[in-house]
Amino acid sequence: MIDIKIVDAIIEKWNTDPDFVIEMMQDVQDEFRYIPKEALERISDRTEKPRGKLFHIATFYSAFSLDQRGEKEIQVCMGTACYVKGAPDVLAALERDLGISSGETTPDGKFTLTEVRCLGCCGIAPVITIGNEVIAEVKPSQVSNLISSYCKS
Ligand code: FES
Repeated sequence: MIDIKIVDAIIEKWNTDPDFVIEMMQDVQDEFRYIPKEALERISDRTEKPRGKLFHIATFYSAFSLDQRGEKEIQVCMGTACYVKGAPDVLAALERDLGISSGETTPDGKFTLTEVRCLGCCGIAPVITIGNEVIAEVKPSQVSNLISSYCKS
């Protein structure tokens, strides 16, 4: 359950103007790290923009997520260069260590694990990102220490 007053404040910041629903959704995403269904419905009700239209926007732009996300997103590159250099083993180690499967968020809300295609730095494969940080030449044996160090930060 979210605090709907926060959503109302965001909508009012943009003067309830239907031309600014994307900006409202960005603010909601920043606030909650995803777009809760109640928030989407509130924006729709108050701006009179159809819910289907907002849902389309939320699913079209990768910056938006309709699922709850962790505080940090861990992306595992499964592009060809990373794949052949052991990305599947790195992913398996992360899944084991975090106790979740790819695409899921840890129950404590700290991490969301996702697979991505080429991150554009194949020379340092296999690559993962944790938040904004790129980690090069990751080995499955490093995964536990990486996760522990990010749990403390
Ligand atoms: S394939 Fe992983 S960075 Fe390019």
